[in-house]
Amino acid sequence: MAHASDLIESDIEAYLHEQEHKSFMRLITCGSVDDGKSTLIGRLLYDSKMIFEDQLAAIENDSKKVGTTGDNIDLALLVDGLAAEREQGITIDVAYRFFSTDKRKFIIADTPGHEQYTRNMATGASTADLAIVMIDGRKGVLTQTKRHSYIVSLLGIRHIVLCINKMDLVDYSQEQFESIKKDYLEFSKDLGFADITAIPVSALEGENILHNSELMPWHKGPSLMQHLEAVDVTAENTAMDFRMPVQWVNRPNLDFRGFSGTVAAGQVHVGDEIVALPSGKTSKVKSIVTYDGDLDHAICEQAVTITLEDEIDISRGDHLAAAKARPEVTSNLSVDLLWMDEHEMTQNRPYLIRFENQTVPGSVTTINYKVDVNTLKEREAEVLTLNEVARCELALTENIAFDPYEQTRSMGCFVIVDRISNKTVGAGMLRHSLDNASNVHWHALDIDQKSRATQKEQKPAVLWFTGLSGSGKSTIANLVEKKLYSRGNHTYTLDGDNVRHGLNKDLGFTEEDRVENIRRISEVANLMADAGLITLSCFISPFRQDRAHARELCGANNFVEIFIDTDLEECEKRDPKGLYAKARKGEIKNFTGLDSPYEAPEKPELHVKTAEQSPEKVAEMIVNYLDREGYLTP
Ligand code: ADX
Repeated sequence: MAHASDLIESDIEAYLHEQEHKSFMRLITCGSVDDGKSTLIGRLLYDSKMIFEDQLAAIENDSKKVGTTGDNIDLALLVDGLAAEREQGITIDVAYRFFSTDKRKFIIADTPGHEQYTRNMATGASTADLAIVMIDGRKGVLTQTKRHSYIVSLLGIRHIVLCINKMDLVDYSQEQFESIKKDYLEFSKDLGFADITAIPVSALEGENILHNSELMPWHKGPSLMQHLEAVDVTAENTAMDFRMPVQWVNRPNLDFRGFSGTVAAGQVHVGDEIVALPSGKTSKVKSIVTYDGDLDHAICEQAVTITLEDEIDISRGDHLAAAKARPEVTSNLSVDLLWMDEHEMTQNRPYLIRFENQTVPGSVTTINYKVDVNTLKEREAEVLTLNEVARCELALTENIAFDPYEQTRSMGCFVIVDRISNKTVGAGMLRHSLDNASNVHWHALDIDQKSRATQKEQKPAVLWFTGLSGSGKSTIANLVEKKLYSRGNHTYTLDGDNVRHGLNKDLGFTEEDRVENIRRISEVANLMADAGLITLSCFISPFRQDRAHARELCGANNFVEIFIDTDLEECEKRDPKGLYAKARKGEIKNFTGLDSPYEAPEKPELHVKTAEQSPEKVAEMIVNYLDREGYLTP
């Protein structure tokens, strides 16, 4: 009997305390359709007394009607809850069951054996610590056994119980057991399992389930339950480096600011040095607060609120990590991907990529190869269809902090969400970064933009002048800068022609080169603003998307887009450098306004029509705007 504690009668409080603090394990069962999974789970629930009297009565009744076990109770009926499944005799979704013994609590994911349900199996396996791989003792290792084992290994389960079932139908033959075990060990040697424990059982007869079977005295190992109660699956999580995604910032009053979340890996002690990512700021743990009082340390899976010794800016979606063992930061990754949608996945289509606590736009840029889950052979592929697994390259629009999946599961997994339907269409595991600089971490400096700006007594800004060549951008910016300079403001002007002499002298005027030109300028403008300067940037910057990117990068409330609107005819008339004339003669290719497009801003902060007013007037108007918006005064 599972719950046979003397404490129930003598000290109920002590018993309840013991129950509450029992260790906890998640497991998944996988096997082919007739391997007896449902019967095994039913047996575990039945033998651990997790079935109520009325459930039992109902099953006894059903057993006579639809059961396959004659007058005995059909334990599979306990588990195969859905009417449709009963009729078909298969399980069609993931079902989670709970049971507990004196030593441990268990959540068991029962997943279907059919090939088309790979995604359900992956769902069940993604949170499990251990997998019970069921094999029919008469049939041995099947294709499905291999497929399940591959998915289990892909999803990072390292502990396997090889449950060789239906031993009653092979006369409890040791020879048969040993031969299946040998086959399985041979097949699975490259799957990276930490341990594989083979146990011969009869789920139907209850042999080797709770106690060692007298019918198989040759089996010297534990019974299934003895093994499940004893196997250590937590040690590796606790030994990892500390990671905690911040789920919310807990700020009940002005005196308290804590970061709440569940420890995803490792452990954290009061006094530990931690880093907040992506900001890169470090601090020390001041306290670890829980509902039941403060702790001196917390381990994997504990939900806690951490307070820090320094006031640093951390928001929901950030990570706290051990300062001395940081996650990598990257936007390009090699991943293993399981496709779960009826619509096929094509390369480069934009999706939302959802990580534990943040969502980033991204796409699969390359399918390196797909894996035939039945044979484990690699194949070339252009697209992925439902239930296919592939090694791919993932490109994100912004950096994320991550650990490889096999190192820290919760920091290394993601799902792919369709942008329109909001449906989960894929799930995957991060393997490694494809960026050369993923181990370069943002270095947080004590003197920040705010202090530099305070010293200069101004609000840093990026004044982004855009317009055709010859529209007057540089002329106007020059006047604006002179006015600001004479007011004592600190400025710098980045100009297209000038920057193309140095930093960007490798770039021409193709669309690609212009995109790169503006990308680099945006980065430089952002650094200048970070230095506390009012930065004037004068580039044709013909593409809306690139200007939007510049705005995003520099921060929308520092960014002033100024459209210098001079029509093409006027620019061509002015032609200060004779370039329009050359372009007309075909001597310059891709000239903006002629054979290369200009996308006018839709909502610039300032829209200047130069035909209507002198450059001097325009400059004055811009300075007045900056004054009004508080850029020029302390
Ligand atoms: S951008 O399109 O990439 O933003 P940028 O502002 O750096 O252009 O450079 C534009 C300057 O380069 C023009 O003012 C002009 O003097 C010169 N130039 C030379 N060739 C071209 C061209 N094909 N198109 C536009 N400008 C050109």
